[in-house]
Amino acid sequence: MPARTPATGDALAEALGYVAAWRGKCVVIKFGGRAMAEGSVGTLIEDVALLHRSGVRPVLVHGGGPEITDLLEKLDVPAKFVDGLRVTDQQTMKAVEMVLGGHVNKRLVGQLHAQGAQAVGLSGKDGNILEVVQHPRAELGFVGRVQKVNTKLLETLLDGGFVPVVASLGAGPEGRTFNVNADTAASAIAVALRAEKFILLTDVEGVLKDDELVSQLDPKSALALLQSGVVSKGMIPKVEACLSAVETGTPSAHIISAGRDRALLLELFTETGIGTMISAGSWGAQPFSG
Ligand SMILES: Nc1ncnc2c1ncn2[C@@H]1O[C@H](COP(=O)(O)OP(=O)(O)OP(=O)(O)O)[C@@H](O)[C@H]1O
Ligand SMILES: [Mg+2]
Repeated sequence: MPARTPATGDALAEALGYVAAWRGKCVVIKFGGRAMAEGSVGTLIEDVALLHRSGVRPVLVHGGGPEITDLLEKLDVPAKFVDGLRVTDQQTMKAVEMVLGGHVNKRLVGQLHAQGAQAVGLSGKDGNILEVVQHPRAELGFVGRVQKVNTKLLETLLDGGFVPVVASLGAGPEGRTFNVNADTAASAIAVALRAEKFILLTDVEGVLKDDELVSQLDPKSALALLQSGVVSKGMIPKVEACLSAVETGTPSAHIISAGRDRALLLELFTETGIGTMISAGSWGAQPFSG
């Protein structure tokens, strides 16, 4: 057994303090497509199960970009994006619903069960969680813009001790399914549930500028990075989702790497955290800023 060092004791004391502070708090976590591709989930699911066991109320929201693109390739349907948003015609919509609501969603549920956390997989259509209208950019096709979030089903599941796993599909007019960017969907859910923290897991360390990680951003500087084009492609909806969350009541939003071992535990249970934090408040002043 390794010798006990004061540093280990300090780390434990710090972590336990955070564990106690986070009990009963809701955290909305978005898994990006690459973050959860088969075989690359790493410790993420274990971390979610651990958070849940520690009394945190985690809600997972997921996309599935690469797996949707794979299926579309097999079906010979070309994938097209405009500013990080998938152009979704009727055929694409069917593939998106199959992959997101079916395969990816149920795989995450199974992985959580394997770690001892009871999970329920659903899409934003279930219980009308995500009520959407067609995105104002009509050329995007069946892409929805969130109009309203109905939290009753999610709260019922959380109160019952389940981890909700939500595929980013929306309930559109006349019972139609719409594709909703998962970053945007997760942000709307975080705000509606009054989550204490909103975490986006992706395939980069966070927001990068000149190849360097930007570890903290206030809304003004985040907007400047969007306007200058430093933030592009799939990072655009992420930064916009964080901005919208912190501007409508979520204390802090974080973009972190899914590839970092123990990413979620480091983000919640250590003082420094990892990745990029976007927050409207003053740095370090919040009790749960870790
Ligand atoms: N300034 C920036 N900093 C970091 N990444 C950036 C930046 N600008 C653009 N990007 C791109 O954004 C990507 C992350 O968004 P992307 O949509 O590809 O991933 P995701 O949302 O995690 O997964 P998915 O959309 O497949 O569910 C990065 O891999 C990077 O290529
Ligand atoms: Mg994306």
